[in-house]
Amino acid sequence: MLSIVVCVSGGGTNLQAIIDGIHSGAIRDTRIAGVISNNAGAYALVRAEENALPAFCISPKSFEDRAAFNRAFMDKLSELSPDLIVLAGFLVILPPEMTKVYAGRIINIHPSLIPSFCGKGFYGLRVHEEALKRGVKITGATVHIVDEGTDTGTILYQKAVEVLPGDTPEILQKRVMEQAEWIILPKAIDEIAQQCGNTAVLQKGCGS
Ligand code: GRF
Repeated sequence: MLSIVVCVSGGGTNLQAIIDGIHSGAIRDTRIAGVISNNAGAYALVRAEENALPAFCISPKSFEDRAAFNRAFMDKLSELSPDLIVLAGFLVILPPEMTKVYAGRIINIHPSLIPSFCGKGFYGLRVHEEALKRGVKITGATVHIVDEGTDTGTILYQKAVEVLPGDTPEILQKRVMEQAEWIILPKAIDEIAQQCGNTAVLQKGCGS
């Protein structure tokens, strides 16, 4: 059984896709050990509670400095002891030691086809605004392993989505979520649970 922690900051539709995937059997042999949000107002926390999942808010604002936040965040992760950490719309700079301690065991969903529209400053609607500005006809989403860089880790899954005439950033964001994110994130977790359920394999880096 793959034990996962899902880190969120906002609406939590990707968290919902994971919860639904576990219920429907699309994600096998996986349990959610906890949901962590940096934002007390995140609707993702409501989704966690509605599904009886252990939910925690750890906000940088509640700590005297970043080091204290980082310690509390790392302590919570260690208490939950996940095989895999899933960043599902988590808008926080990770504690520097996190990618070392959990090397190869953190994945992220990014709303573009990496290496397009990724890296520093590319998050949320901004990604879709830039895609529309550039006039691309195809965009999509990527699930990748998180390393010390920003959106630089090994790519596990990608799915393309068409950009259509008249798209606004909001319309495109919704299409990318529906047609790509909510499909490939559950798929990646299922595949990791099937192929890399053995934590020794996960620690070496899954999907490479
Ligand atoms: C998604 O677009 C995801 O790709 C990005 O942040 C957004 C989170 O949305 N990293 P939600 O909170 O899962 O609804």
